[in-house]
Amino acid sequence: MATRLFEGKDHALFYRKYRFSPQEPLKKVIFSYLDEKVSSFQLAVDVGCGSGQCTHLLAPRFDKVIGTDISEAQIEEANRAPHPPNVSFLAAPAEKMPVEDHSVDLVTAFTAAHWFDLPSFMTEVERALKPAGCVILTSNTLDMTLHYGDCSEKLTQIFTEVRLLVSVTQRLGIIKVQRVTDDYEEIFNALPFQDKKRITDIIDKVPMTVAELMGYIQSFSSYQTFLKARPEAAKSRLQNVEKRILETIGVSSHETRLEFWNRQVCVLGCRSS
Ligand SMILES: C[S@@+](CC[C@H](N)C(=O)[O-])C[C@H]1O[C@@H](n2cnc3c(N)ncnc32)[C@H](O)[C@@H]1O
Repeated sequence: MATRLFEGKDHALFYRKYRFSPQEPLKKVIFSYLDEKVSSFQLAVDVGCGSGQCTHLLAPRFDKVIGTDISEAQIEEANRAPHPPNVSFLAAPAEKMPVEDHSVDLVTAFTAAHWFDLPSFMTEVERALKPAGCVILTSNTLDMTLHYGDCSEKLTQIFTEVRLLVSVTQRLGIIKVQRVTDDYEEIFNALPFQDKKRITDIIDKVPMTVAELMGYIQSFSSYQTFLKARPEAAKSRLQNVEKRILETIGVSSHETRLEFWNRQVCVLGCRSS
């Protein structure tokens, strides 16, 4: 059964504004794989595309890119944001892609595959891909650290506390999150291709302001679940985190820039020809 944690319009708006697309290290892994393995660049499908930031990445390489997501609110945001003319967005589950059999050159999912019904999704990938078509499934891990001068350790501690606190309210997501904490091993094992690999040591470094960091925290499904259950507690927790971060850095401006480092995992596979 699909896990529906990304449905709210406000949540989708936070996604569009504050979620970032892959940085150079992850882009390098993705594009090297495309150069090595993909021979036809007609159609790519990005499933669980959210508000579409990562989907855009594929536009320069493919004739046509379709982003799909189970959440209508996310698709609305994706359609509303400026996007390249060869990219379109449709509401659809990853387990039922809106494409013909064996018509797709590449299926991607960015920080989304752990939410899917894995057996149905893998069957669907086999149905949709052309012979020798490829699949790339990446995810943020929970290895997230903040960096600013000599207070990186303290900042990371504050960030980890808020992440853990909001996560305990999200019991529904825990089983799916185990697929992230095992570095996508279950997902790698479920991919029914001989030709496949898993990379677990990609570190993406994202420059962001304190204000953007607060927006990013609000885009977590766990924070949105907390907000729904205990609105006052969630808002005050967020204000408190912001205050502690600014105090730790020793500044008052939300526009102060720090760096967010996140380890990424990536499962890459190629269907036999
Ligand atoms: C963590 S977000 C990632 C969004 C986007 N790929 C990104 O990297 O910014 C996960 C997305 O997967 C979608 N999702 C969850 N289960 C899904 C399913 N079974 N089929 C399609 N989309 C799904 C959610 O609606 C959400 O937008």
